[in-house]
Amino acid sequence: MKLSVPGRTLATATLALAGLLAAGAPAQAAQSAPSAAAAPDIPVANVKAHLDQFQSIASANGGNRAHGRSGYRASLDYVKAKLDAAGYTTTIQQFSYGGSTGYNLIADWPGGDTAQTLMTGAHLDSVSSGAGINDNGSGSAAVLEAALAVSRAQLQPDKHLRFGWWGAEELGLVGSRYYVSSLSSTERSRIAGYLNLDMVGSPNAGYFVYDDDTLLEQTFKDYFAGIGVPTEIETEGDGRSDHASFKNVGIPVGGLFTGAGRTKTSAQAQKWGGTAGQSFDRCYHSSCDTTANINDTALDRNSDALAHALWTLSSGTTVPPDGDVYENTADVSIPDYGPAVTSTVNVSGRSGNAPSALKVGVDIKHTYRGDLVIDLVAPDGSTYRLKNSSGGDSADNVIATYTVDASSEAANGAWKLRVQDVARWDTGYIDSWKLTF
Ligand code: TRP
Ligand code: ZN
Ligand code: CA
Repeated sequence: MKLSVPGRTLATATLALAGLLAAGAPAQAAQSAPSAAAAPDIPVANVKAHLDQFQSIASANGGNRAHGRSGYRASLDYVKAKLDAAGYTTTIQQFSYGGSTGYNLIADWPGGDTAQTLMTGAHLDSVSSGAGINDNGSGSAAVLEAALAVSRAQLQPDKHLRFGWWGAEELGLVGSRYYVSSLSSTERSRIAGYLNLDMVGSPNAGYFVYDDDTLLEQTFKDYFAGIGVPTEIETEGDGRSDHASFKNVGIPVGGLFTGAGRTKTSAQAQKWGGTAGQSFDRCYHSSCDTTANINDTALDRNSDALAHALWTLSSGTTVPPDGDVYENTADVSIPDYGPAVTSTVNVSGRSGNAPSALKVGVDIKHTYRGDLVIDLVAPDGSTYRLKNSSGGDSADNVIATYTVDASSEAANGAWKLRVQDVARWDTGYIDSWKLTF
């Protein structure tokens, strides 16, 4: 699955970007204008209100929100209740790690094409030494508030939106890896991209964008360029947050980060403000990671950048890359009120299964198409009904393209179009038919 903005697949965007950059043109020029309604400004006060709740939860539960501790589950229940009230379909996924039960929270916004799911996530656990307000209350709260903004807008995106809050990230990306491993390969292929927010309110903030996927990266960069804030590529530890779990199974990833234990250089302090020679987050993994450890401006900008990305990336239909066409153009006559006939297309040299949106192009000449029952027969004999008979449908010819979810079928083998004429008088023939992979 490729993620695209209207008229542009990711592969195309990557190539176009590479070409334009090589020619010295601005990267901006390679982006097609998204047709999305403008993203809302996320109220940073709302994001901070969630952080206050995480702080209270930690304070009431031994000072942390760590895996296996009561503060973790209370954090999850808080987020879930907000999402349920906003119309999300939420699921708690349990796993076991280090002798304790862990939890992921998954929230689906109803609607959109689930074959193109745009997923956004943040880890909800803290280390045991503190409340984890920047790491990663900030990302958790920004993702929550963006999800609530989707609900307030009653957004009807073309792509399906799903959000995830991960458990036990601090113990080795445990929750997100569990989630990804629980998906079938088909389910994975339906996730067009994953956006990760981990530490987006660092007190001595930098503005870092993950550079894994060109389109996701560019979408975030466009937002920051639009508000005049320079960004850098995230290098403090690729693979050190939950996006790695998705990237490892081939899902395009992107994300935002304002820095952890690394020291801000003077060049960085010059462009972003803050203090050179000091960590981006001096309270990283410490007990001082409280609500006092948040840079409101950074939290605000990153929340708005996420909303921009959600609105931009979820709109527009994917233009599927031109597929490989397998066709049989030999005529097969269809006996009047007789047995079914078939025409075969042999597919070879492909790997894996057929696509979830296999296109079946049918060209049948007939003087009364209501007589015809048409099925696609997969190599293993499974059948997919393309068209039923219908006594009243007196038009002639069936010239149509049907879309079949053939993702449970091996791609290679002999595919058949099976046509039967089930009523007297009118006749015709299969002129041609084709499969587009
Ligand atoms: N939670 C991460 C960790 O404890 C924080 C982090 C460090 C991070 N480096 C990163 C998050 C780079 C995203 C990108 O390791
Ligand atoms: Zn973290
Ligand atoms: Ca007939």
